Order: sequence, then C-alpha cells, then structure tokens
Amino acid sequence: MLFLFLFFLLKIHAVELDTISGSQFLTDGDTLVSPTGIFKLGFFQPGSSENKYLGIWYNKIPVTTVVWVANRNQPLTTSNHVLKIGYPGVLVLYNNLTTIWSSNMTTTTSGNVTAELRDTGNLVLIDQNKKVVWQSFDYPTDTLLPGMKLGNDYSRGLVWNLTSWKSNQDPGLGQFSYVPNTHGYPESEIQQGAVVKFRGSPWKNQRFIGNAEFGKNIIITFSAVITEKVVSFGYNSDNTSFLPRLTMNSSGKLETLVWLEGAKKWLAAYTFPFDVCDAYGTCGSYGVCSIDVIQQSCSCLDEKRFVPRDKRSWDANDWSGGCIRRIPLDCKKGSDGFVKYSVSKLPETASSWFNMNTSLEGCKAKCLNNCTCIAYANPDATLQGCVLWFNDLIDIRLYSPSNINKATDIFIRMASSEIVDQSNSKKKGGTKIKIILIVTIPLFLLIV
Ligand SMILES: *[C@@H]1O[C@H](CO)[C@@H](O)[C@H](O)[C@H]1NC(C)=O
Ligand SMILES: *[C@@H]1O[C@H](CO)[C@@H](O)[C@H](O)[C@H]1NC(C)=O
Ligand SMILES: *[C@@H]1O[C@H](CO)[C@@H](O)[C@H](O)[C@H]1NC(C)=O
Ligand SMILES: *[C@@H]1O[C@H](CO)[C@@H](O)[C@H](O)[C@H]1NC(C)=O
Ligand SMILES: *[C@@H]1O[C@H](CO)[C@@H](O)[C@H](O)[C@H]1NC(C)=O
Ligand SMILES: *[C@@H]1O[C@H](CO)[C@@H](O)[C@H](O)[C@H]1NC(C)=O
Ligand SMILES: *[C@@H]1O[C@H](CO)[C@@H](O)[C@H](O)[C@H]1NC(C)=O
Ligand SMILES: *[C@@H]1O[C@H](CO)[C@@H](O)[C@H](O)[C@H]1NC(C)=O
Repeated sequence: MLFLFLFFLLKIHAVELDTISGSQFLTDGDTLVSPTGIFKLGFFQPGSSENKYLGIWYNKIPVTTVVWVANRNQPLTTSNHVLKIGYPGVLVLYNNLTTIWSSNMTTTTSGNVTAELRDTGNLVLIDQNKKVVWQSFDYPTDTLLPGMKLGNDYSRGLVWNLTSWKSNQDPGLGQFSYVPNTHGYPESEIQQGAVVKFRGSPWKNQRFIGNAEFGKNIIITFSAVITEKVVSFGYNSDNTSFLPRLTMNSSGKLETLVWLEGAKKWLAAYTFPFDVCDAYGTCGSYGVCSIDVIQQSCSCLDEKRFVPRDKRSWDANDWSGGCIRRIPLDCKKGSDGFVKYSVSKLPETASSWFNMNTSLEGCKAKCLNNCTCIAYANPDATLQGCVLWFNDLIDIRLYSPSNINKATDIFIRMASSEIVDQSNSKKKGGTKIKIILIVTIPLFLLIV
C-alpha cells in the first residue's frame, strides 16, 4: 500500500484504461471507458458538492448523467483515493488508506479477477475463465438501464430496486424508492420511506410507443420474467442511440428518459405517477378514480352493483371507506358468478395468489370453488397465468384509451341476481335511449 501511495503521488497524467487487473489502479482523473466509448467510470463531484464519488456516466453526452454510484453513502473526502483489485478477487476503493467500498462476491474465486466496463453500462468482474463473478447491474442505484432488472433473484438472494439520490448534490440514499412487491403476483411501488405512495400495474409484457422527437417514434418493450427462481422486470429499446434510462428521481418521480441528440437534452417520455389518480388506494375498495377538469373524483367501480360503504362521507368527498356490493355474496348457495371489467390497472396484488401454469378457464374454476376468492384474472395476455384475489379490491383504474397501459380483463365475483348477461344489459341501454329520444323529440318540437 505504501508503495502504491508513493506511486500515486508521483503520478502526473490521468490515464484512460479499458480494464483494471493485477496491479493496475484508478485514481483521481483516471477513467475506465467502455469498448465503443458509450460509458465511462471514474471519480465525479455531483453539482457543487466538494465530495467525490466513484460512478459511471455517459461518456459522449455533454450533460453529465450518472447512472451508477459505488460509494453512495461514503463520500471520498480526501484526494487520496485508489480503486484496485484486492484479495480475494474483489474490487476495492480506498480513501486515505481505509476501505470505503468493496464489491461483494456471490461466488468464491481463486483471486485473479479483471474489472471491465461494458457498453451496456455494466461494470463486471470476470475471473480467468471469463466468468462474471460480480456486476454493478446487480446493485442498482437510482437508474435502470436497458438490460438491468428490478425484482428478486431467489437463487442468489438478490433484491433489485431503485433508490433516489438525496438531491442533485448528494447521491446518498434518498427518501424515494421504486421497489418490487413480490408477496403475491409481482408489482412495483414507489415508497417514500416505508410508506407506499404509488403502486404500478402488476407486471406484464408490453410495448410503449412514445413520440420522442418530432414524429420519430421510440419503442420501449417492458418484459417480465416470473419463475420460481427469479421474478424480474426490465425493458429494452428498439433504438439504443436514444440512450433510454429509467430513473427514480429525488423529487419522487419515476422518469423514463430518452436523449435527444438534436436538442442536446433529456426528454421525459413517460413519468410515473402520471396523474393524481395514481395515488395509492385513493378511492378505497371497489372505488375508481377519474379526473374531471377541476380535480380528482371517485365513483364506485360499477354504479349499479356497488354502493358507497358510507354514503354521507362519500358525498362529502371522503372516499376512504370505498364501496361495497349492493347485494352481498352468498357463496353457500353456490349461485355466484363473475362480472367482467376492463381495467388499465389491476387491483393491488400484494396478497393475491398466482400460478403461471393455470389457464383462464382453470383460474375461473379455482376461484369459483373457493368462497373466499373474490376475483380472478390473467394479468398478461401474452402469457398464460392466473391471479386470484382474496381481499377487497383496491387501487383499480378503469380502462381509458388515454392511459398507456392496455386494457386487462378482471372477473369479479357477484351474487347471481347481479349477473344479468352483459350483452343483454347493453341492449336494455339501447332501448332506454330509444325511448328517451321518442319522448324528447316531440317535446322539443312543442317548445319551438
Ligand atoms: C488520513 O489518514 C491519516 C492517518 O490515519 C490521518 O492522520 C489524516 O488526518 C487523514 N487525512 C484526512 C484528510 O482525513
Ligand atoms: C458482503 O456480503 C456479506 C454477506 O453476504 C456481508 O456480510 C457484507 O456486509 C457484504 N459486504 C459489502 C461490502 O457489501
Ligand atoms: C494470477 O495471474 C498471474 C499472472 O497472470 C499468475 O502468475 C498467477 O499464478 C495467478 N494466480 C492465481 C491464484 O491463479
Ligand atoms: C432495496 O434493495 C436493497 C439491496 O438489495 C435492500 O437492502 C433494501 O432493503 C431494498 N429496499 C426496499 C425498500 O425494499
Ligand atoms: C436510431 O435513432 C437515430 C436517431 O434518431 C437514427 O439516426 C438511427 O437511424 C436509428 N437507428 C435505428 C436502428 O433505428
Ligand atoms: C423529477 O421528475 C419530474 C417529472 O419528470 C421533473 O419535473 C423533476 O424536475 C425531476 N426532479 C429532479 C430532481 O430531477
Ligand atoms: C409450469 O410449466 C413449465 C413448463 O411447462 C414447467 O417447467 C414448470 O415446472 C411448471 N411449474 C409448475 C409450478 O407446475
Ligand atoms: C381458499 O383460499 C384460501 C386462501 O388462499 C385458502 O387458505 C383455502 O384453503 C382455500 N379453500 C379451498 C377450499 O380451497
């Protein structure tokens, strides 16, 4: 170490390495650049902060945008810092001779590893057999790059989530996080501290087409993997030259950003929460939120089959009590059935049961045969799968074409007397309109 620091003091020129191995090391001003120069790793000072951090940022764009930070909560306060390979096969960051940060092994290695920065933005440690023994993608900070994952890797005991920076000056762990909830069918939520503020849709594969730059489309494909070993959610872009990134920002918004080369700036193609109706459980159970011109308002999922639990507070815009079925379920008679609703956001799945090998028919049978089952759905039309709900349904959004999420069908258990054939009820609606027309037209003529 002493030798290292003497050497460090004598060093004059910054170097640009492509890998770190053996006795090589990185100090202030030195950088590691990915093969085609997309990403760079080195020491940076955020905003006007005096502190230094080891991080990865885009190499070619003029707005310094950090996508990963090693020592988030342990800033480097002196200029005596060195990043080098340590024993046994780890990458170690020393500050004034003390270890500030170290990569952590999930597999043991012989000790000879090489660090390299890939064009995906992933810093990897590989052993002599070119096997990846550690990667920064397994330790996300506030940014999800294409190829990174959110979720749980049960076999390796990893949890992947995003936590915001404290502020633009401080990459330390901030108050907002975007975390997977894998207790039931997996979904993600934005938490402030330990409080759930916003819940995203249960995971599904879908394509989001955004209009990035005057008619140029960018297609982002979200994909979910749900197996016994891993549940993960990630995305890819059809055109990586837009440098897409998903960031949990320090003001509590999850932004999907793309780089506009012409305008030389980041464009937030999509942000979550999108509107006031994304606030978690804002309309109580079986309530749905809508936004009229002035403000948010709640209604029951279906004005015919549901009524406010407490009419007086509901009318006073206190929607927390939610809605209840007009006619309670009476499962014992065995006469219940299901009513289909098209939603853009399925109800909270945190306490649901799911099985990806059950068809929609099997799902219906499973739900029908269990009196505590309240609803069922296949969350992702591109896959087979079955989710069953056992608690009152909360945080639903009905389908509207303005939402980027496609419609999903959920089948909600109802007393048999509520199950009028849905096609019949449409016909009835049609008759009603006809009657009204017949009545109003003569009236109108009379008035004129
Ligand atoms: C660096 O470490 C030495 C020895 O532990 C200590 O005396 C010195 O104050 C430290 N310098 C700074 C700037 O922390
Ligand atoms: C590395 O992992 C071990 C056990 O999994 C843990 O005790 C230790 O704190 C970790 N070290 C770092 C630097 O993350
Ligand atoms: C590490 O690599 C060096 C040079 O490549 C070699 O001499 C040494 O034996 C290796 N050590 C181990 C433990 O494999
Ligand atoms: C996020 O992941 C980290 C590291 O795996 C874990 O320690 C932390 O508890 C997670 N945060 C939340 C809110 O789940
Ligand atoms: C990606 O987008 C850039 C900038 O709009 C464009 O020049 C390039 O041709 C696109 N590449 C592909 C493969 O679509
Ligand atoms: C967070 O994202 C929102 C929405 O895109 C944006 O208005 C806000 O400026 C961002 N905050 C920071 C600190 O970047
Ligand atoms: C689900 O089906 C897949 C492929 O058909 C199979 O590999 C897997 O073991 C099944 N899982 C369960 C829980 O039955
Ligand atoms: C109904 O579902 C509940 C919750 O999953 C479960 O505890 C119970 O055993 C099920 N009952 C039957 C008859 O399958």
